[in-house]
Amino acid sequence: MTGEMSPIEQAKFVAANRAAELVQDGMRVGLGTGSTAAWLVRRLGERVSKEGLKIRGVPTSTATAQLAREVGIEVVSLDQAGWLDLTIDGADEFDGELNLIKGGGAALLQEKIVATASDQMVVIADAGKEVETLGAFPLPVEVIPFGWQTTKLLIEEALDTMDVLGNSVTLRMNSEAPKVTDEGNHILDLHLKRIGNARQLALVLNQIPGVVENGLFIDICDKVVIGHGDGRVELRNLNEGTVEVGEPRSGDNLFSDLAG
Ligand code: 5RP
Repeated sequence: MTGEMSPIEQAKFVAANRAAELVQDGMRVGLGTGSTAAWLVRRLGERVSKEGLKIRGVPTSTATAQLAREVGIEVVSLDQAGWLDLTIDGADEFDGELNLIKGGGAALLQEKIVATASDQMVVIADAGKEVETLGAFPLPVEVIPFGWQTTKLLIEEALDTMDVLGNSVTLRMNSEAPKVTDEGNHILDLHLKRIGNARQLALVLNQIPGVVENGLFIDICDKVVIGHGDGRVELRNLNEGTVEVGEPRSGDNLFSDLAG
């Protein structure tokens, strides 16, 4: 199975494994959503069963909740946990200040609530997610289904006054029907190409009636673990201004613990 992993998948895998080492006994941990976060959840499940690691996990989607239960992690709601020690999640883009675009997996609302309710948020990503300026990845915005077309018009109008390069807005579909999020909402994807002022855009979008939340995570993330296809992992700590680089383990197959 390992031999069939693409370099991007391998990068996600090593980033997730490194981040799993940040989790300590007794922690309440926010569990992100997406393919990178799924590697993390599997690795934490392994630590629970092999090392007896005791954690409570707060999932950010029904998909993550199901996986977490399958791998033996105790799952609790955010309200049961109250506050979290650490949230680890993927991202669609991150910049040098660790501002993010999230929501490619349509889970941005729960992801933002959970990350904000955490002492620390760590992003795990393959190196291709790093950008100088956010915006090449379409910005997801969660809107309530009632009057979504009016909300879309209001967003388009607002974009005319924003520092962005593109202004097309599309409704995310799931085959023939609009995508429905875990909270029963829809997702509008904003094709902006380049976001000149992400902080301002995030504030403006959330002022529009019908918008529930946007996928810009500003000043929320503290650390990023960047995985590379050759197994190298970089851990950047924004607050401490440190960078730690881990080389691939020598010897046998780096990804051997993946099998099974
Ligand atoms: C889900 C997200 C994901 O974290 C993001 O889309 C990255 O996904 P992946 O790890 O599969 O590349 O924001 O809403």
